[in-house]
Amino acid sequence: MVRRTASLLTAAVCITAARWLLIPTTFAALSRKFGHQVARARNPPKRQSVALRSYAGYENRFPAPAKKFEQELIATAKAIAAPGKGILASDESNPTAGKRFADIGVENSEENRRKYRELLFTTPGLNKHISGAILFEETLYQSTADGKQFVDLLKEQGIVPGIKVDSGLRCIPGTDGEQYCTGLDKLPERCREYYKQGARFAKWRAVLSISKDGKPTDVAIQHTAFGLAAYAAIAQSEGLAPFVEPEILMDGDHDIVLAQRVHEEVWAEVYRQLEVHGVMLEGTLLKPSMITPGVQGPTAQPAEIAQVTIEGLRRRVPAAVPGIMFLSGGQSEEEATVQLNLMNQVEGRPWSVSFSYGRALQASVLKVWQGNDKNKEAAQKMLLALSDANGQANLGKYDTSKDHPSNTGSLFVENYAY
Ligand code: 13P
Repeated sequence: MVRRTASLLTAAVCITAARWLLIPTTFAALSRKFGHQVARARNPPKRQSVALRSYAGYENRFPAPAKKFEQELIATAKAIAAPGKGILASDESNPTAGKRFADIGVENSEENRRKYRELLFTTPGLNKHISGAILFEETLYQSTADGKQFVDLLKEQGIVPGIKVDSGLRCIPGTDGEQYCTGLDKLPERCREYYKQGARFAKWRAVLSISKDGKPTDVAIQHTAFGLAAYAAIAQSEGLAPFVEPEILMDGDHDIVLAQRVHEEVWAEVYRQLEVHGVMLEGTLLKPSMITPGVQGPTAQPAEIAQVTIEGLRRRVPAAVPGIMFLSGGQSEEEATVQLNLMNQVEGRPWSVSFSYGRALQASVLKVWQGNDKNKEAAQKMLLALSDANGQANLGKYDTSKDHPSNTGSLFVENYAY
């Protein structure tokens, strides 16, 4: 009995000693093992994807060009892609302006270019359907006849001034006339100056063409995607929201199937490069061509063009992009409106699908104006009517039973330069 009591006592002493000695040790070990999880649960780290966490030193690996202007870039892109609104592309280079003026017998002088742009920007009610205007460098520094800077005139109307920043196209050596877009040298300095002057978005037009025997080549696609992404990163780092414009020309005899394959491949590569360059997509806009067959190819119905274009974009363009602002690319003014309207009736569009038309907003305006002051008001009414038609088309509400306001036909120009 005594022996039994003694061993029970010994056991109790041992258990107590173990509790005092072992449990803290175990607890320490356990807390070493799981303590950081407890701390993390109390104080969760900033949200990071698993993929990012697995990169050593990832903070330094990814560029963030938009950092300084992030909120402003997002606000600019959002304002441009506002419902019912689109862009007046009035950034024709001086030689291109000369071609347009030649058609109506107007001399291509600096004063005539200024006068014409004044006509555009002073159109009463322009801001109803126009959210931004793209300017050529000369225009960015010009003023109305009574001395108001165009930039201020636009801003007062809530129209965002933008600037074409590419310096045109050059041939890629060894290719069959394929081109790359120039202008990266000194681009940061130029963008800084344009921002100071009031520009808030930028445009860079890269151009590809399609042929059944292999255009665009891989090298041309790589040039386009790399150039656009490098430009977009620079523009964002200087506060300008970039319009990313990989134009694929309508020249050629290819069908819509080939056009779709090429557009999708190019868009995929462009978005891959934008990612590599750290471009913040929420502060960008895409300015693509619509997926149409070549002008000498088998025709396609407008509804098919609309369906295929939205389908291709949905596959390749992230929903973070606020707006897809199409170029007109040589379609007639009416076709450009009708196509836009049809696209806005296709289901599944996470972005605003709108216009950034040059020819399709100005051809009839120039025809009415004829360089004559007496026609100024009528020309402005034409611009208003065209922008109204396209604003309705952005909402998918353009009334096709009404006559289109335009007075011109096809605006296609072979191998078009802007
Ligand atoms: P079009 O609408 O005339 O094709 O041009 C718009 C534009 O800005 C091309 O860069």
